[in-house]
Amino acid sequence: MEFVTNSPEETMTLGQEIGRLLGPGEVVALFGSLGSGKTTLVKGIALAQGVDPKVVRSASFVLMQEYQGKLPIYHFDAYRLEDPRDMFGLGCDEIFWGEGISIVEWADKVEKTLPEEYIKISLFIEAPNKRRIEISYQGERYKRIVQGLMARGQGLVAG
Ligand SMILES: Nc1ncnc2c1ncn2[C@@H]1O[C@H](COP(=O)(O)OP(=O)(O)O)[C@@H](O)[C@H]1O
Ligand SMILES: [Mg+2]
Repeated sequence: MEFVTNSPEETMTLGQEIGRLLGPGEVVALFGSLGSGKTTLVKGIALAQGVDPKVVRSASFVLMQEYQGKLPIYHFDAYRLEDPRDMFGLGCDEIFWGEGISIVEWADKVEKTLPEEYIKISLFIEAPNKRRIEISYQGERYKRIVQGLMARGQGLVAG
């Protein structure tokens, strides 16, 4: 499914809708170029889990940040990773299989280290303030998230 957002706030709102639907042990892989809105979306997911979005930032030095929400959120940013295998050094193996929510920015850089099943979100810059956001999934457990978004779709920005 696909959404179009016309401001960072709309992207955050979409993130909140997704964040409300996520459960323990679920993994979100974010694909999209610099400035496409990945971190903005993470802020929305975090907010839905009760985390102050101000603490959510693109990692400059910290490559994995943990936020304590209703569920723990593990926010990976692979942008600066030199080798995909560095994800293992960050503990991804245990974290992906743990009880928190894992979110990976720049998932294309570390695709081989992702679990087989995840929610895949691809963001595209269409205009300075316009983003196209494609959401799909690998693994039946994630079907309900797309269905949940569809059910609430009318209240969301144009889809
Ligand atoms: N519709 C939109 N959705 C998300 N961000 C937008 C949108 N329109 C403009 N922006 C701007 O694009 C930038 C997105 O930054 P960020 O979320 O950090 O992207 P990324 O993490 O993908 O590099 C921000 O400066 C934000 O204000
Ligand atoms: Mg970012």
